[in-house]
Amino acid sequence: MPKHFLMCRPEYFTVEYAINPWMHPEAGADRDLAIRQWEGLKAAYEELGHRVDLIDPIDGLPDMVFAANGALVVGGRVYGARFTYPQRGPEGPAYLRWFTERGYPVYEPGHVNEGEGDFLTLDDVILAGTGFRTDLAAHQEAQERLGRPVVSLTLVDPRFYHLDTALFPLDGHNVAYYPAAFTEGSREVLRRMFPDAVLATAEDAEVLGLNAVSDGANVVVNYEAANLQLALKRRGYEVIPVDLSELRKAGGGPKCCTLEIRGEN
Ligand code: ARG
Repeated sequence: MPKHFLMCRPEYFTVEYAINPWMHPEAGADRDLAIRQWEGLKAAYEELGHRVDLIDPIDGLPDMVFAANGALVVGGRVYGARFTYPQRGPEGPAYLRWFTERGYPVYEPGHVNEGEGDFLTLDDVILAGTGFRTDLAAHQEAQERLGRPVVSLTLVDPRFYHLDTALFPLDGHNVAYYPAAFTEGSREVLRRMFPDAVLATAEDAEVLGLNAVSDGANVVVNYEAANLQLALKRRGYEVIPVDLSELRKAGGGPKCCTLEIRGEN
């Protein structure tokens, strides 16, 4: 099944503030290389037959490339983002405007949440992260707005500050994750819900290997996540390795650059 994605070209990408442990403003980042790597990701999606729409980047919003944080779109309805840090604040309205202009029903967020950074959608449930960015109250709000059950999971390692840095859906029913990124209680929830999950190693997690995008058959994943790639191949997945090392200097990988637009169903 082809997917529909929204992406934002890293035209104004820089690392000029630090809001997660990956970011080192004094070291900076190579914008041209970031753009080339991002183009490679977009091309990979298009080769797989997915549709990629683009939102115009805005000067002064260097993290806007991380489209996943811009909203959560389920059943054709858009739940807007409200960012934790003021540096990213204007991204929320910018993404909501993109959807409003295209006729989507949108919900203004009443609570802090960073869109698909912390909300990952499966067929029957939305998994929601908290601990660093998204407020627990937003989990409840998303459930009421979108009419899907939301299960809260608590993150504990500041390197894995968004749920999408520690877990990704393999298909509508199963996930891959890095257990040590979660509290003991949340690990137990994950074990119960996903007894057949792919468990990632520390080495996989430390290169943001869990920040991957699966369409149920193909998994677009950081080329450095060697154990994870092997585990996925053993399960019969086609692995599409990509290099987003420059964007990782802001704490992002393939999934961060990708907002999924889920239509009505
Ligand atoms: N620098 C950005 C931040 O800290 C990176 C966001 C990465 N996005 C994601 N979906 N994990 O907010």
